[in-house]
Amino acid sequence: MLIRSRPDWWLPERAATPESLYLNRRQWLTGSGLLGAGLLGGGLVGALTATPAHAAAPALPALRHTKGLVTTDDALTPYEAVSGYNNFYEFGTDKTDPAANAGTLKPRPWTLAVDGEVSKPTRFDIDALLKAMPLEERVYRLRCVEGWSMVIPWVGFPLASLLKQVEPTSKAKYVAFATLNDRTQMPGLRARVLDWPYVEGLRLDEAMHPLTMLVVGLYGRVLPNQNGAPIRLVVPWKYGFKSIKSIVSLKLVERQPPTSWSRSAPSEYGFYANVNPKVSHPRWSQAKERRIGEFFRRDTLMFNGYAAEVAGLYKGMNLARYY
Ligand code: MTE
Repeated sequence: MLIRSRPDWWLPERAATPESLYLNRRQWLTGSGLLGAGLLGGGLVGALTATPAHAAAPALPALRHTKGLVTTDDALTPYEAVSGYNNFYEFGTDKTDPAANAGTLKPRPWTLAVDGEVSKPTRFDIDALLKAMPLEERVYRLRCVEGWSMVIPWVGFPLASLLKQVEPTSKAKYVAFATLNDRTQMPGLRARVLDWPYVEGLRLDEAMHPLTMLVVGLYGRVLPNQNGAPIRLVVPWKYGFKSIKSIVSLKLVERQPPTSWSRSAPSEYGFYANVNPKVSHPRWSQAKERRIGEFFRRDTLMFNGYAAEVAGLYKGMNLARYY
């Protein structure tokens, strides 16, 4: 008899996060003691308590909240922080640059090309893809290699669902991802901070893991440009830089593909980039993190708290060497 055992983050009966919870930022701030204590900088408090930008973002009409997949009980990071404090170097290197500058990105029309070692290379139109894929919400922790973190209700679908459609061949061992590379839409490309386009990669088993998502929305709304519209990757057990934004192509390949940050500073950023409190970045410890909106730093969890689900992928590997 087939006995299905569900991973412990699977909470099928739990409805997707209600909008009232998203919008209750003031209560969240009060609860965490931040509002009264005035621990946030004036600018941030102002942003967090301003008229919700969330209400202005278009809803995802196709969103089917059939599976509320919540992997943590930690308080959600307010929408204004998720969409106002970003890393997206194609729009500038300051945290507020993407929100200020990403208005020039045109998320429609948009094509996602999936090819390489696959039986059915396909160019997916984003709207057709959105209609075809059942969308689900997942609340994940996001831990940036810089030492800050957030808790974000993403909307998307497992990357595995897309990969199965194109039928990877037996030669496919890795997936290489690339971001749009268009100077007319992305002013930051004029600065040579990185070798453009931004590229990332995963081993095929990491890409097929049920936690790995392609994301098209957050907080039940269309993904803001600054968060990687119209489609981005989210790999919750890895440092945020693996979660490449505004993806135009996926290529299934035989060999480990180059990735932007490890190409730029190989001794600081590896291909694996698994969240690991025991392996320091050469210039800072990774043992603790600053959860955006909190005052005290908290301990960083192995694999960002997803060890039960993903540690098996790295069995026998020296994680200090393959950082
Ligand atoms: N993707 C692209 N194309 N360009 C970037 O600069 N920054 C990465 C990642 N994806 C980045 C990117 C980093 S360092 C982080 S921490 C996350 O996006 C931040 O995602 P967020 O702004 O949605 O929180």
